[in-house]
Amino acid sequence: MVSSVGPNKSYSGGMTFYVFWAILVASCGGLIFGYDIGISGGVTSMQPFLMKFFPSVYEKEIGVQNTNQYCTFNSETLTLFTSSLYLAALVASFVASTVTRKFGRKISMILGGFLFLIGAVLNGIAFNVAMLYIGRVFLGVGVGFASQSVPLYLSEMAPCMYRGRLNVLFQLMITIGILIANLVNYGSDKIKAGWGWRLSLALAAVPALIVVLGASFLPDTPNYLIDSNKHKEAKAVLKRIRGTDDIDEEYNDISLASEASKLVNDPWKKILERKYRPHIIMAALLPCLQQLTGINVVMFYAPVLFKTLGFGNEASLASAVITGGVNVAATFVSVALVDRKGRRFLLIEGALQMFIFQVIVGSLIWAKFGTSGVAVVSQPYAIGVVFCICCFVAGFAWSWGPLAWLVPSEICPLEIRSAAQSITVAVNMLFTFIIAQIFPWLLCNAKFGLFYVFAFFTLVMASFVWYYLPETRGVPIEEMWSVWKEHKVWGKYIPNDVMETEKTGKPSEEV
Ligand code: BGC
Repeated sequence: MVSSVGPNKSYSGGMTFYVFWAILVASCGGLIFGYDIGISGGVTSMQPFLMKFFPSVYEKEIGVQNTNQYCTFNSETLTLFTSSLYLAALVASFVASTVTRKFGRKISMILGGFLFLIGAVLNGIAFNVAMLYIGRVFLGVGVGFASQSVPLYLSEMAPCMYRGRLNVLFQLMITIGILIANLVNYGSDKIKAGWGWRLSLALAAVPALIVVLGASFLPDTPNYLIDSNKHKEAKAVLKRIRGTDDIDEEYNDISLASEASKLVNDPWKKILERKYRPHIIMAALLPCLQQLTGINVVMFYAPVLFKTLGFGNEASLASAVITGGVNVAATFVSVALVDRKGRRFLLIEGALQMFIFQVIVGSLIWAKFGTSGVAVVSQPYAIGVVFCICCFVAGFAWSWGPLAWLVPSEICPLEIRSAAQSITVAVNMLFTFIIAQIFPWLLCNAKFGLFYVFAFFTLVMASFVWYYLPETRGVPIEEMWSVWKEHKVWGKYIPNDVMETEKTGKPSEEV
């Protein structure tokens, strides 16, 4: 459950060092998610790792100059290594939603970090493929718990006027995690003895420890404490995070919101009501479309992709560091613009930018590799491809990256917000899994056309936002109903009496 307090009210107190620290620590949950995204692509391109666990891929790779390069990495067991995590995260996100609601956001975060830690250790010491996969499942469950609980924690702790920007902090940590992983891969690949991959995988323990230890010292959110009838503690936390004793108004509002949401016994049944149709469609479609940009082809497989282009090992990993750096830098653009230019502008601009550069990348690869997939690429040409991939990544990083998390979290009324969050996480993980699993097969079969497929989806995304997504910038969360009501497509789903109820200030479920 997320606080229903909105920016139309000004509570006493503001940003304190304590709340900033708490939010910073909690957002490290994004770090474990990101570290994992970035690490697997690099590791699966390291020869000692392939020799040990996936010898058939290794054999294909060393004959790479005269075989079809589109198909070098088409191994189901290898892709399952990357994608198994997301399947585990998908299942875990539903369990996490209950744990988060019943036992608190803090427990969920600690549990997420702890399970991730076990996964890191298992992967670091793995001596067979089974250990690798079991480790991945632990990592996945950790990621599922973290991505369910961290965004809620951030929203509930943040002073409402900073909520948008602070929400993007989760995505920023994801991108920092990816970049750190890219750097670690670049360094560990240089270890001549061939155990660099172990270091890469085991170092996932560091962000996990930060989350476990950091979260242990965090307070739980006032919202959870009020919800579990720990009123005295809730007041003390609220006073501390807002830096003032004058917290009665905010405290009362959270209590009211808590009471209102308690009236809903089964949010999963509630969410199926007609008036929540727009919300549920957005909560599911935004993360789905986010993944159909093909971003994780770059995030997971950048080194593999660059190797396919004929880059050496080191150059491939270095290029992944470059795309990772662009990803972090461009996320700051989102932080700066999201509340000024609005969500729709960024989402449409980002989609069109991705469209242009996907088409260029596809065409550059087509021109060189044709359909046979055999080619030697000159350095300037390859640099051109990396540049275009960076432009694509930047387009994603300031638009669909953060906003596919932010928008679903701000469009739903309190009574369905937690359930909708689980849907967003689960759909995100499902499509991450599907893309990760089918990418090497798609590259092998659709060849350069793969990039045109993703380009097609980015066009669909721009049109979808244009026609269907209302602007939510600056709209108080409690007044979101009017945004839907005024929309020419969604308006008919919203009964008039919901609006009436909103005006009288009563919770919508009493309608
Ligand atoms: C997505 C991830 C992606 C990352 C890239 C996140 O918003 O959910 O799938 O890898 O952005 O920065």
